[in-house]
Amino acid sequence: VARVGLRSAVRVTSRALSNVGGRQRAVPAATVEDQDTRKTFADVQKERQQQAKHSVLINCPPNVNEKTFLNYLSQHGQVANHFFYESYGTHAVVEFFDQENVESLRSHATVPSVQNEYVLPFKSRIFTLNSASSSSGVPVECHRQSSLPINELIQKLCRAQNIEEQTYLLLEEYQLTDENLRLRFLVSSLIKDIAAAYFPEATVNPYGSTVNSFGKLGCDLDLFLDLENIQRKKPGKAGGPFATEYLMKRVTSGRAATQRILSVIGECIDNFGPGCTGVQKILNARCPLVRFSHQPAGLQCDLTSDNRIALRSSELLYIYGNFDHRVRSLVFTLRCWARVHGITSAIPGAWITNFSLTMMILFFLQKRNLPVVPTLDHLKSLAGKEDQHIIEGHDCSFTSNLNKMKPSENPDPPDLLLGEFFEFYGNFDFTKNCIDIRKGKEQNKPESSPLYIRNPFEQNLNVSKNVNQSQLDRFVALARESAWIIQDQMNQSVERENKVWGLGMVLLPAVFQGIGKIKKKRKRTPASDRIKSLLDSLKTNGKAR
Ligand code: CTP
Ligand code: MG
Repeated sequence: VARVGLRSAVRVTSRALSNVGGRQRAVPAATVEDQDTRKTFADVQKERQQQAKHSVLINCPPNVNEKTFLNYLSQHGQVANHFFYESYGTHAVVEFFDQENVESLRSHATVPSVQNEYVLPFKSRIFTLNSASSSSGVPVECHRQSSLPINELIQKLCRAQNIEEQTYLLLEEYQLTDENLRLRFLVSSLIKDIAAAYFPEATVNPYGSTVNSFGKLGCDLDLFLDLENIQRKKPGKAGGPFATEYLMKRVTSGRAATQRILSVIGECIDNFGPGCTGVQKILNARCPLVRFSHQPAGLQCDLTSDNRIALRSSELLYIYGNFDHRVRSLVFTLRCWARVHGITSAIPGAWITNFSLTMMILFFLQKRNLPVVPTLDHLKSLAGKEDQHIIEGHDCSFTSNLNKMKPSENPDPPDLLLGEFFEFYGNFDFTKNCIDIRKGKEQNKPESSPLYIRNPFEQNLNVSKNVNQSQLDRFVALARESAWIIQDQMNQSVERENKVWGLGMVLLPAVFQGIGKIKKKRKRTPASDRIKSLLDSLKTNGKAR
């Protein structure tokens, strides 16, 4: 029997019944309808990049009148899409139908006149709108660009019908919105404009969690500066006794070339990039990068250049995330769980990263009696000619066509999978085994790192080489404790009014205080101030409803 009350994870209002593994269940309608027409990763990227090319970013006066604003812009052309958000003031992302419209706006914009300062006259597609008359006084609707604080999320989860619905609610709250994606692709396109001053054929593409379907509102923006188009250019038609080639500087390695290029582009971003602050050049890292903050967009950016394989792993994760609707709800839930318990962190260190955690989740899903997702080797076996990619000697081939993949026969709902995930890793033999999503089977560890997760493409690399024993021990202890709590919560059908329950219980940091020291099951009394205030607010909200 279908568990009703499931919320859509993809912003649809209608629900549909689908036969998953012989059991009728409610799943988001769009997931069912889109089954045969799911877009490829490349199509999605192309569409977003196209939108971004025609888009501009405008810093608006406070309380700008939306109608007057759009009227003003329409003199340059038809506006295809627009929205407002807050980041150091009110900003608007405006997409025009045509590139010419953007050029028209640019040709009418002036260079700011300042006193006691000088402007660096780099003209970008970020503008300031100065208002000649007073504004309407009606504030424009601003789209949220960051995720809910954890306490508010837990309160929201408490209003769901069951734990399964809680996992979908969490996904709905945390996932990147269409507006946020537009903003991210616009920033990528603005950075491309800067790089294009030296390298007109260069492209800049987002990768990592912005595009792999697991991005949370507020996550960093990973950017890839791609110069391959320059190298790939075929010789022209002109024949004759000579062939001309460019005179170009040479360095001793690809890495040295990447470092030089990123160093110069980093300088340009620092010196000329409007709104780009805190530029750091981290060129001696395994993967050299330029880190900076894009203030008008409110995004932390990492620009790299020599990691085409990471682009492939982003597409691979996109395939997994879009293959079965349970994958994203589980990944978002576990990423949230890991973050609140300090298993993952925003600061680099000996912690498990979101990328490693996602690999662990996919491996667990491959290991079910009826697998929820296929192995990478299976995806490779479905690859067509156009999907063959050998990068730096590594085989990165897998099908890009979601419609070629047979749906999973596994019927388990996300809440059951969540409990099983905790149990699986609570009992996993990390001393002996490594995790490998290519094979979907435990393999012997090739070396003694506490946690060994094989990179899906560079199979001699350990994705989690940074993780130390004590961080792994914490993960295992928390997984065991959470397995117990989720099991307990799934068996309870008590009065839930004004109580944190279900998923909320494993997301409360204080419940786990002293973990690792406690051997016996404790009677849990919500003692901390944090829980008390949460309970109080639940009571208040309960009364208000
Ligand atoms: N990557 C990798 N090997 C690693 C770390 C990262 O191949 N050891 C690649 C992955 O494709 C990853 C991308 O680099 O998605 C970006 O890395 P990172 O920003 O650390 O992870 P995200 O997946 O973007 O997740 P987050 O939301 O935490 O930024
Ligand atoms: Mg990232």
